[in-house]
Amino acid sequence: MANGLIDWNLLAALSTSLAMSQPAMWDAFAARYNGYAALQAEYTRLQIEAMKIGPEDTVADIGAGPGRITLQAAQRAGSVTAIDVSREMLDHLKANVAARGLRNVHPLHLSWHDVVPGENVPLHDIVVASRSPAMRDLRKLDALARKYVFVMTFCGPSLKSFHDELVTGIEPEPPRGSGGYRPAMAGHALVFNRLIDMGIEANVGYLPDGFSASWRDWDELLAHFAWLAIPPDRIDRFRRNIGPYLTQNANGLHLRMETRTVVVWWKKDPRLPDAGPSAR
Ligand SMILES: C[S@@+](CC[C@H](N)C(=O)[O-])C[C@H]1O[C@@H](n2cnc3c(N)ncnc32)[C@H](O)[C@@H]1O
Repeated sequence: MANGLIDWNLLAALSTSLAMSQPAMWDAFAARYNGYAALQAEYTRLQIEAMKIGPEDTVADIGAGPGRITLQAAQRAGSVTAIDVSREMLDHLKANVAARGLRNVHPLHLSWHDVVPGENVPLHDIVVASRSPAMRDLRKLDALARKYVFVMTFCGPSLKSFHDELVTGIEPEPPRGSGGYRPAMAGHALVFNRLIDMGIEANVGYLPDGFSASWRDWDELLAHFAWLAIPPDRIDRFRRNIGPYLTQNANGLHLRMETRTVVVWWKKDPRLPDAGPSAR
């Protein structure tokens, strides 16, 4: 029940697509998500720094996908539990973990709906839900954490909107809503206000986010994007679609697509040091 005039939970429920929780949809997009996640490593580092992970900390990454957050978090944490409902996503995560020789990542094939904090999943020091349907259940995120919770989501163009641009004219147009700007998920204003209704005064910080990479030439770039599976007769169109995000110099072609991520975070105990994007 909302405390004020506005029922933020109802608004969140009304503005959330149930498709986001369908394993089949995530399974089908996993190879592509994995490809895009690799292009985000430079910006993902900023999110990891904001989490202030200590060497003894246990981290639970809810809706971990192919491990965009997990892989970098594991380099700083004691251990990371990577929970995801999609087998395909977890297969990519396991391959990425193996390729980096990480030994402190525990993949867990489980729906967030079935997680019972302290019963089938132990409490973790740090809980992160990044671009994850888990942000629907803020109470459960809070219950799973001993120290900090981080909820992260795009607050500018999302991975999906970048992807849609790259495949424009190549693949069928995705269905569009009637309005203009649509947050990719229940926007962070809803998350913040739902937390207020729960008695949690969360902090909000913003970070640059985006996609970046460099290649020697077009051949190398096109080989890199094999995971997009662009049909050979549509390569010219792909080159035109990605062109606005590329610069060229003597060293080759450089991709940069910039957007923003918002980090909503709170600590379980006021005596804990601050974290978040602005903490040094
Ligand atoms: C947009 S991806 C985000 C991946 C990663 N957290 C990141 O920030 O790059 C959303 C992930 O949530 C997972 N997911 C969706 N519904 C879920 C659920 N009910 N329980 C656990 N994971 C879920 C999907 O399979 C997908 O891997």
